[in-house]
Amino acid sequence: MRVNPLIVALDTRNRDIIMALVEQLAPAVGAFKVGFFPFLLFGWELVEFIHSKGGRVFLDLKLHDIPNTVANAVEEVARTGVFMLTLHILGGREMMEEAVQRVQDCPSRPLLLGVTLLTSMNTQDLRMVGIKGPLEERVLKLAHLARDSGLDGVVASPLETLSIRKALGKGFIIVTPGVRPPGSSPHEQKRVATPREAIMAGAHYIVVGRPICEAKDPLAVVQDILKEVETQ
Ligand code: C5P
Repeated sequence: MRVNPLIVALDTRNRDIIMALVEQLAPAVGAFKVGFFPFLLFGWELVEFIHSKGGRVFLDLKLHDIPNTVANAVEEVARTGVFMLTLHILGGREMMEEAVQRVQDCPSRPLLLGVTLLTSMNTQDLRMVGIKGPLEERVLKLAHLARDSGLDGVVASPLETLSIRKALGKGFIIVTPGVRPPGSSPHEQKRVATPREAIMAGAHYIVVGRPICEAKDPLAVVQDILKEVETQ
């Protein structure tokens, strides 16, 4: 059976709305993305609630610190049965390797995904922090480093998904946000793709937030997205 590729980003401050979305959508989606903002508000209670409804959790904490500190955090997360966890690749090879090594024997270990460069930063912003050269090249280099350090995959914008898939092959997981069903508002997202386009480009998973969470009928939007993806 094919993996359900849809991850719903839960980015709202309203506890009742979040819990209702989880309750309604858990049987229909591949996972829920819990970023540090909802995690700060609702913490492990939200993670446990998702698990109690049979859902999976993509804990998007974007960890970035010295190797031992990140490895400690990854070890704690691994005990909770979370499905995916993010780390910044810019934390370096040693940080990623130590994190991978620390959880390799854990039966409930999460998939460890690297964040390459934040899509909110353009070439000029990156130059200001000392990162020079064509953006796509930098992203590919970081994706290679993530793979060589033992990570399971990366988070990548629709624009980068195809080149990462081509360079790193099928087994490397790509999770793609910035995805919009045909005809829906891009909000502030600058580089968007439809669910089908993102999957065709090589994404294993797509992340969709507001088009689902702000819809009158979130389940109907989920079903439409899955239908579009299945008929590719
Ligand atoms: O509401 P929307 O579908 O735009 O939400 C996308 C989610 O993916 C948000 O949680 C956002 O922080 C996250 N994200 C993103 N672009 C990235 C990395 C993460 O939109 N490059």
